[in-house]
Amino acid sequence: MENTIEVKGMRKVFGQNPAIKDASFNVKKGEIFGLLGPSGSGKTTTIKILTGELGQTAGEVNVLGIDSERFGTADFKSRIGILSDNSSLYERLSVYDNLKLFCRLYGAPLDHLDAILREVNMESERNKTVSKLSKGMKQRVLLAKALMHKPDLVFLDEPTSALDPGNMAQIHRGLQKLNEAGTTIFLTTHNMEEATELCDRVAFLHNGELQELDSPAALRYKYSTHAFHVETFAGDRLVIDNEPENADQIKELIGNGQVKAIHTDNPTLGQIFLKVTGKELV
Ligand SMILES: Nc1ncnc2c1ncn2[C@@H]1O[C@H](COP(=O)(O)OP(=O)(O)O)[C@@H](O)[C@H]1O
Ligand SMILES: [Mg+2]
Repeated sequence: MENTIEVKGMRKVFGQNPAIKDASFNVKKGEIFGLLGPSGSGKTTTIKILTGELGQTAGEVNVLGIDSERFGTADFKSRIGILSDNSSLYERLSVYDNLKLFCRLYGAPLDHLDAILREVNMESERNKTVSKLSKGMKQRVLLAKALMHKPDLVFLDEPTSALDPGNMAQIHRGLQKLNEAGTTIFLTTHNMEEATELCDRVAFLHNGELQELDSPAALRYKYSTHAFHVETFAGDRLVIDNEPENADQIKELIGNGQVKAIHTDNPTLGQIFLKVTGKELV
């Protein structure tokens, strides 16, 4: 499959401090890729390098077939969308006037603004002044702003941090629709449920180093003990290893009608992150 992002031996040093130490990874065309890491692990630095805001100290970075030396070009900028902490809106203008202004500024056509407002579920708020919007609504408008020029690839730096579950779900739905329409999405998060739900593949970032890279399901399988956790009606909780010699025990429990619930051990991404890095994902 074609790669939208190719990174080989990427390194970033601030003064004496290495923020990214020799990272290599690819992002496939059409996937939702999540970079997971706690605060200070290098997520924002990675996005800044991939979008041309910062230059890497060493290594090769290629995005959409364009080498990092050419990230300053209008062609590159027209093909990527960015939602980050630095994204901002004009507080005294309405939602629609903000987007119209940005469209003009970036030379994007106005005709699909309505569709984008629908995608982020902000149609009914289109005439509201931005200063009167909740944080979640503002974030949805910022997402619309990042999408206005129909980029092939969108970078989202912790798009849902500090949002309530309702707004988070709205953003997730918008991103899923966008992805179904063919847009590649690169997001950072320290929210493991978000990563599990949204991402085709995730990479763990810890102190500037990539530790694991795979689909959430594959990682959960890899770090599973594969044991069965059985809860009985009598209130017992049994852990039975997934081995042939335990088949009779399980058969008996089910045969006697004792089993209330049974499932295999599947750690969450947060538990796996803790196991791999020794650090919580917050
Ligand atoms: N402009 C900068 N100058 C110096 N150090 C920086 C700069 N930007 C980030 N860092 C350092 O790089 C490390 C990674 O930061 P960052 O990429 O912001 O992490 P994250 O987004 O995962 O919280 C941190 O130790 C941070 O202090
Ligand atoms: Mg950050």
